[in-house]
Amino acid sequence: MLSIENFSLVLDDEAIARPILHDVNVTVSPGEVVGLVGESGSGKSTTAKAAVGAIPQRARVTGRVSVGGDDVLAMGEMSLRGLRTRSAAMIFQDPRTTLNPVRTVGDFLTEQLEQLGWSREKARRRTVELLESVHVSKPELRMKQYPHELSGGMLQRVVIAAALASEPKLILADEPTSALDVSTQAEIMALLEELRREHGFAVLFITHDLHLAAAACDRVYVMYAGHIVEEQPGRSLFTNARHPYTRGLLGSVPDLSGDRPLMPIAGRPLMMSEAVSGCPFVDRCDWAEEACRTWQAELIPVAPGVEAACRRLPAVAADVGPSAAVWEGGTDDRS
Ligand SMILES: Nc1ncnc2c1ncn2[C@@H]1O[C@H](COP(=O)(O)OP(=O)(O)OP(=O)(O)O)[C@@H](O)[C@H]1O
Ligand code: SF4
Ligand SMILES: [Mg+2]
Repeated sequence: MLSIENFSLVLDDEAIARPILHDVNVTVSPGEVVGLVGESGSGKSTTAKAAVGAIPQRARVTGRVSVGGDDVLAMGEMSLRGLRTRSAAMIFQDPRTTLNPVRTVGDFLTEQLEQLGWSREKARRRTVELLESVHVSKPELRMKQYPHELSGGMLQRVVIAAALASEPKLILADEPTSALDVSTQAEIMALLEELRREHGFAVLFITHDLHLAAAACDRVYVMYAGHIVEEQPGRSLFTNARHPYTRGLLGSVPDLSGDRPLMPIAGRPLMMSEAVSGCPFVDRCDWAEEACRTWQAELIPVAPGVEAACRRLPAVAADVGPSAAVWEGGTDDRS
């Protein structure tokens, strides 16, 4: 459904070239739910936007992006608009950024349908159905209301209804529940799953919440500083993480039982302006050694559906740091 292959994006900011994405490979099959996790600024939204051809101005891109087999990077403005209204819909963190504050909910939804060629009368009837399908109570009343009159959860349901209007095959959900309280978040996730089963669309799901990614996604990609550093099935994200960064992220998740201490990742995320040669995680990695600074990071297959971009995977798996004897012997050096 979605294929992003060897995709790199460099922003030309005045005289400085800032690499944002490095050789990113992401695929989403029909009906699949695929997660994209990573720290703030790692490039998750830029990757999702590339899927619908929303490339920042002043950006140079290489690689290939296709949705349903169509080459997105070769599309003109008209085709891109068609892609965004008919094939791939985006849901953002804050529904208020999608809705027009001076238009009623009903006008917002019916106008979307009219743009798809529906008559005004049919569009209004379909709007009621769409609002019912996302479990908005009293849809006729809601249609007369303005965004500021609805709660965040209710507004996100309206945005999901708008996304469904064109029966898309792919939904790009960028932190769709991060602005919501925990119980509303659970309701919206349950709604998305219910609709996905009913309509069969695929989802690229961006989140900071590792528990949510593990629970909701068939597969999860982990991003660090514009690189995909790991791919794992959602179900094994917590038990089988291979890359030191993924392990660091999992260690940073609070354990409410108190059995495990919180272990934040040392150092700070790499700034996009910082030149990377070798492994991008080297300055924060407990297993790093000098050779990592020149190692050309690439994903290494570990098991079916599991890949990680680390040259010291056996040592990491054995939880053996760089000073340990096994490492000094260099028995698992992949460089
Ligand atoms: N249009 C743009 N102009 C300038 N810089 C940009 C633009 N788009 C993205 N960036 C930069 O690219 C990097 C990645 O941004 P992106 O929004 O993709 O990260 P993210 O992983 O989605 O972060 P968050 O979790 O905070 O949403 C950041 O350093 C950001 O400042
Ligand atoms: S390649 Fe080296 S620095 Fe990078 S994650 Fe692996 S051990 Fe750490
Ligand atoms: Mg983002």
